Amino acid sequence: MREFLLKSNGVTGDFSLNDLPGAGRMDVVCRAVTACLWLSDQLRKDTIFHALLEGKPSPPKLLTFDPKKLKRLYPDERNVAAHIRLSLLGRKMPGIEVNNISFEDFLKQQNKQKQIIFLDKDGKDIRDFIFEKDVLFILGDHKGLKKEDIKGEKMSVGKKIYLASQVISIIQNELDRREE
Ligand SMILES: C[S@@+](CC[C@H](N)C(=O)[O-])C[C@H]1O[C@@H](n2cnc3c(N)ncnc32)[C@H](O)[C@@H]1O
Repeated sequence: MREFLLKSNGVTGDFSLNDLPGAGRMDVVCRAVTACLWLSDQLRKDTIFHALLEGKPSPPKLLTFDPKKLKRLYPDERNVAAHIRLSLLGRKMPGIEVNNISFEDFLKQQNKQKQIIFLDKDGKDIRDFIFEKDVLFILGDHKGLKKEDIKGEKMSVGKKIYLASQVISIIQNELDRREE
């Protein structure tokens, strides 16, 4: 299974669907969800997406999206944001789990179960990487990952700095191509 975790400054309470950038750049989270889970006309079944929200008022909140269980999640940002908002407000949304777990504790939990790869432009080239069957990719939002967040092997998708959603698309495409 492929998994992605976006470490984000997104808010952890109510926010306006009319101002996603003002909600700790929730627009970045929404675009990452879509890049990660959508093909042109269907949800992927091979990937789980996590957003670790560290914004106010009650961080941390880990949102986990399982496309096999998601209902009425569409690729547009506003629809994804509506799902996130309702989840944060405590509504049970099919295919979305909310947990109060920190980045450090989540990593400890995952550590022995799968290959963990941190996305960094100065890491080893994606084209030289060998991926295990169960792999977790970790990347930052517009503010990036801090040095102390990176606790394992680093992978680069090129020397330019890309948007988080672009990095996810590049990785998904690389993994898809290797399976063709
Ligand atoms: C918009 S970038 C963050 C920009 C931030 N100002 C910085 O310099 O870290 C979002 C995330 O995408 C990942 N990323 C961006 N460009 C990358 C590259 N060329 N290779 C690997 N990961 C990259 C990193 O994890 C980064 O935290």
